[in-house]
Amino acid sequence: MRPGHDRTPVHAPGWLPGVGAVSYGGDYNPEQWPEEVWAEDVALMRDAGVNLVSIGIFSWGLLEPSEGVYDFGWLDRVIELLHANGIRVDLGTPTASPPAWFFDAYPHTRVVSRDGTVLGFGSRGLVCPSSAEYRRAATAIATQLARRYGRHPALALWHVHNEYGVPVSEDYSATSAAAFRTWLQERYGSLDALNAVWGTAFWGQVYRSWDHVGVPALAPSVVNPAHRLDFARFTDDALLACFVAERDAIRAESPGIPITTNFMAGACHSTDLWRWAAEVDVVSNDHYLTAADPRGHVGLAMAADLTRSFAGGKPWILMEHSTSGVNWQERNVAKRPGEMARNALSHLGRGADAILFFQWRASRSGAEKFHSAMLPHAGTGSRVFREVRELGAGLAGLDEVLGSRVEADVAILWDQQSFWAQDLEWRPSVDARHRERVDAFYDRLWRDGITVDFAHPEHDLSRYKLVLAPASYLLTARAAENLTAYVAQGGTLLTSFFSGIVDEHDRVHTGPHLSVLRDALGVTVEEFLPLRAGERVHVALAPETGAEVPDEGHEGTQPPAPVVADVWADDLTLAGAEVVGTYTDGPAAGRPAITRHRHGAGTGWYLSTRPDADGLARVLRRVYRDAGVTPAGLPEDVEVVRRRGAEADFVVVANHTDKPVDLGLSGVDLLTGETAEPGRGALTVAGGGVRVVRTPRA
Ligand code: GAL
Repeated sequence: MRPGHDRTPVHAPGWLPGVGAVSYGGDYNPEQWPEEVWAEDVALMRDAGVNLVSIGIFSWGLLEPSEGVYDFGWLDRVIELLHANGIRVDLGTPTASPPAWFFDAYPHTRVVSRDGTVLGFGSRGLVCPSSAEYRRAATAIATQLARRYGRHPALALWHVHNEYGVPVSEDYSATSAAAFRTWLQERYGSLDALNAVWGTAFWGQVYRSWDHVGVPALAPSVVNPAHRLDFARFTDDALLACFVAERDAIRAESPGIPITTNFMAGACHSTDLWRWAAEVDVVSNDHYLTAADPRGHVGLAMAADLTRSFAGGKPWILMEHSTSGVNWQERNVAKRPGEMARNALSHLGRGADAILFFQWRASRSGAEKFHSAMLPHAGTGSRVFREVRELGAGLAGLDEVLGSRVEADVAILWDQQSFWAQDLEWRPSVDARHRERVDAFYDRLWRDGITVDFAHPEHDLSRYKLVLAPASYLLTARAAENLTAYVAQGGTLLTSFFSGIVDEHDRVHTGPHLSVLRDALGVTVEEFLPLRAGERVHVALAPETGAEVPDEGHEGTQPPAPVVADVWADDLTLAGAEVVGTYTDGPAAGRPAITRHRHGAGTGWYLSTRPDADGLARVLRRVYRDAGVTPAGLPEDVEVVRRRGAEADFVVVANHTDKPVDLGLSGVDLLTGETAEPGRGALTVAGGGVRVVRTPRA
């Protein structure tokens, strides 16, 4: 066994009891294999440095062969085997995959999709989250597991369910419809109030009986967006209530053991993870690269930053990622040598204190047999297994990184409820996509080597020098006040187009668009001017005053090249802001495109169009200057992120290029022990390589 896992017991609230090293392992599904394979599994786990495995996640049908009849024998033996070998257990509750008998007994708990299709058995994750029978059965199996194993010394963590919200979240069954009505009654009290906030006078949708209020199933035309938005909230609440019910049942039987459920930060649209993070003891996340994207490591970094932000900056668990290709994308590109370690350590650099995979041993049968694993079909002689062992050995040297924190000066606003609203039909342009804007802003900050947190628009933002709002379509009055106060108190805010448009019921804020941010931004929108597909506009930037480095579009004595943009323009009305960029063509030719406004001690920027990547870089450089934020000046595709410990900093450098880089790094590489004294050589990072360097506190 890899030493260290229990060496320095850490009992900090919220972290895994008795764990003083980086956790390493993955989902372990021994029930898919004859028992004689288990001993080999555990021996190989020890060889690979595995010290934590997630078990039982999909085993309801094995643990409870018929309702109320339990068979824990095999799980007892698995847990004892792991315990005897010093491997800690993350015990799953199997409630993401109810057994066949459950659907046979309670057929009305099957999920009905928006078009009315009743979804069948033979997969996983297909149950109505509002069904009383499901909640009762799920809580019962969770209670049984907690009673039996809740005080077992091998137990480090509870893993409730699996990825709430996928593969389906919204359920349009009669059971959900009844629960939705109750939810609405609790929220609004009266039909009058419901009719008012949903604006049902429009198209004469007015309700005069609660019995008439249904789920927003497919209808002849667009369904009332406020109705759909509330159904998204109801669904999230129903899923969260399932989690809370299991959590509370476990807590009663298993004191002191933290409880989590694995999120899919940024990848699952039906869960508002700010709310979920408040309910778990420790945040955990699953992340898979988008194989079609050759720069998928940027999406990885964003998911990790999002997860850390949901965790409130505390360490979190990377519950799943892959050693190589997955099996559910269109083209499941295999990871190349070194990529797995770069991915794993990039998560660690962004705050993960546990590095786990799906899964330990590749499955022979079932839907995921072509998914990579720590122990692939090719066995122990494979490249993947060699790299798994190397990574395990490397992580064993990182005990001192545990608990250190990532600090960011910049935040990007992230509000799932705004995204739900913006994604509904009949918006001004299909090309105005919230996720595309968030990704574009994040990508620029990643390239500039600037570490980013995500924040909810109603959070305290005062610790950030710069706040970016790439897609804040739904902005409550409270959030608008918060952003305005943030600017007044000295912050720099950049707001992108189609933000601050509606309230929490998808009702347009009164007055010209952007009125809720008028004080902060010094501008309002008289009219949206969306562009045709492929249409481009140009924005001339005003000369910069006091800039040490001239705008990059400036060549020789020529005026700077205009910024090229598409998708959107606005007809703006200035309310005190200065004009930084002016449309030279398109529907707003001659009118302001980019504005800057001093408000109190801070500055509010507004960007009324979608600049291309180069244009966004140029605009952001000016915004950074206002905010006092400095780009790191890194070579392309080299990632650097810093964790701050009590006595030292830990700098993770991942080189996503195939050429070595020299960043003048000094310190000790904790993965290899290599050292470079300050001023005497440097730790270069090989092409495709990664280092975790201990340096004095910055
Ligand atoms: C995750 C899921 C795992 C496994 C994995 C690989 O989303 O939680 O159970 O399916 O994907 O496909």
